[in-house]
Amino acid sequence: MKSNENNSRRRFLKLAASGSAGLGLAVNSVFGQVLPNGIEAETTELPVSGTKQKSVMGLCCEPLKTVRIGLIGLGMRGSDAVRRLMQVEGTEIIAIADVVEKNVKDANKQITDAGFKAALEFSGDEDWKKICERDDIDLIYQCTPWLLHTPISVYAMKHGKHAACEVPSAVTLQECWDLVNTAEETQRHFMMLENCCYDFFELNTLNMARNGVFGDIYHAEGAYIHDLRWLKFMKEGGYQNMWRLEYSKLHTGNPYPTHGLGPVAQIMGINRGDRFDYLTSVSTNQFGMTLYAKEKFGENSPEYRQAYKLGDMNTTIVHSLMGKTIMIQHDTTSPRPYSRIHRISGTKGMAAKWPVEQIALEPNAHEFLKKDDFDALIKKYEHPLAKQIGEKAKKVGGHGGMDFIMDYRLIYCLRNGLPLDQDVYDAASWCCVVPLSEKSVLNRGNSIDIPDFTRGAWEKAEPWPIVTIE
Ligand SMILES: NC(=O)c1ccc[n+]([C@@H]2O[C@H](COP(=O)([O-])OP(=O)(O)OC[C@H]3O[C@@H](n4cnc5c(N)ncnc54)[C@H](O)[C@@H]3O)[C@@H](O)[C@H]2O)c1
Repeated sequence: MKSNENNSRRRFLKLAASGSAGLGLAVNSVFGQVLPNGIEAETTELPVSGTKQKSVMGLCCEPLKTVRIGLIGLGMRGSDAVRRLMQVEGTEIIAIADVVEKNVKDANKQITDAGFKAALEFSGDEDWKKICERDDIDLIYQCTPWLLHTPISVYAMKHGKHAACEVPSAVTLQECWDLVNTAEETQRHFMMLENCCYDFFELNTLNMARNGVFGDIYHAEGAYIHDLRWLKFMKEGGYQNMWRLEYSKLHTGNPYPTHGLGPVAQIMGINRGDRFDYLTSVSTNQFGMTLYAKEKFGENSPEYRQAYKLGDMNTTIVHSLMGKTIMIQHDTTSPRPYSRIHRISGTKGMAAKWPVEQIALEPNAHEFLKKDDFDALIKKYEHPLAKQIGEKAKKVGGHGGMDFIMDYRLIYCLRNGLPLDQDVYDAASWCCVVPLSEKSVLNRGNSIDIPDFTRGAWEKAEPWPIVTIE
């Protein structure tokens, strides 16, 4: 890791731990350029990749009768993971950890109230190491703030565990390689928990794409547009120690690309027949957080006087080696309705999910399909996962059911010794947009090369198939 990266990281961790904003730093105007807050942006030169590792493309591991889980991070996301995982057949939650003791107690109450054996409780800052070191755990399932994702996942794999980790699983290029190198060295599964790949329309359009409905898909668009200003500035009951706001002070680019990118990358066969080649990225200046802070806390508040590096709208375009493009946007600080766009465009037609689900196909692709034709197509290409587990998933909930489908399929694959739907190469390729978009933004949108994390395995790999749980 480069020294300025270390400094940036140390400073972030310190701020996150103390919960204090970097006070007294000047911002010249809401509509002027936000001055840097004295912290060098991370540089992300391509590290030399390892050479002796064995590929984990298509990795199959020993089937597990029961998947014994260590769950780390029990905040907003992790507490819901406890609820969902208890409802997946063949799981046992052995140990739980959070630095907030109340979260641990509340999670264990959920477990015992549901009639299961209480999990072992951990609440020390580095107790996740103790959990990873245990020999009665198969899977480390992690829902912590971003900067812990790679360190915990790497430690877990080095201690023989499979690792599943929330998004984004890596925020620097070095971390992307650390995940790849460790998975290859240890031959353990790593899966980023990109739940949006399992949403109903995304699965549906994947099935249509595999069946040639859109022809050859050469362009797609995705996004994470979600007004999170209220949550970012929430002092109690929001993100622990306001970690997401702290990250926004230090970084620009697209810090959260995978919800939009994951589903379309799978549809387009990225890392399986094609791969990302380079990206270019631009951001607006930052307006939203400062304006929000002024209205909520006043002109003399530290929140208003604080500089935030994260531009409101980031637009990144990724170009693939086969000449295809993906446009990815990120905006969590503007007053707009939620959108992940999910637009795919091929030689025979297109589909889009936001703001309304629509499909247009040749020979009349000038117009969107009428409701009856649209409904018939959706029914015809309903994905087997939606057919098999969709109803239960909707009852269990978690973003309308997609979270449960993801958990169910992860556990199913581990219990049956199957390759996982998303592997470490997907995680690295999707997450490297975090540092590389920032680098491009800071270089006036200049293009930045994207490494081949698969070390050439993408050429022979087959696109992710239409999977089932039967
Ligand atoms: N996939 C999705 O749809 C989705 C939705 C929300 C959040 N997320 C991701 O989930 C992760 C958690 O987000 P959140 O909203 O739950 O945030 P949160 O702040 O509510 O939860 C993080 C938890 O990690 C705990 N933690 C911090 N340091 C720890 C340590 N050393 N050991 C153990 N626990 C520690 C915190 O106390 C907190 O309870 C983030 O990566 C976020 O991006 C994903």
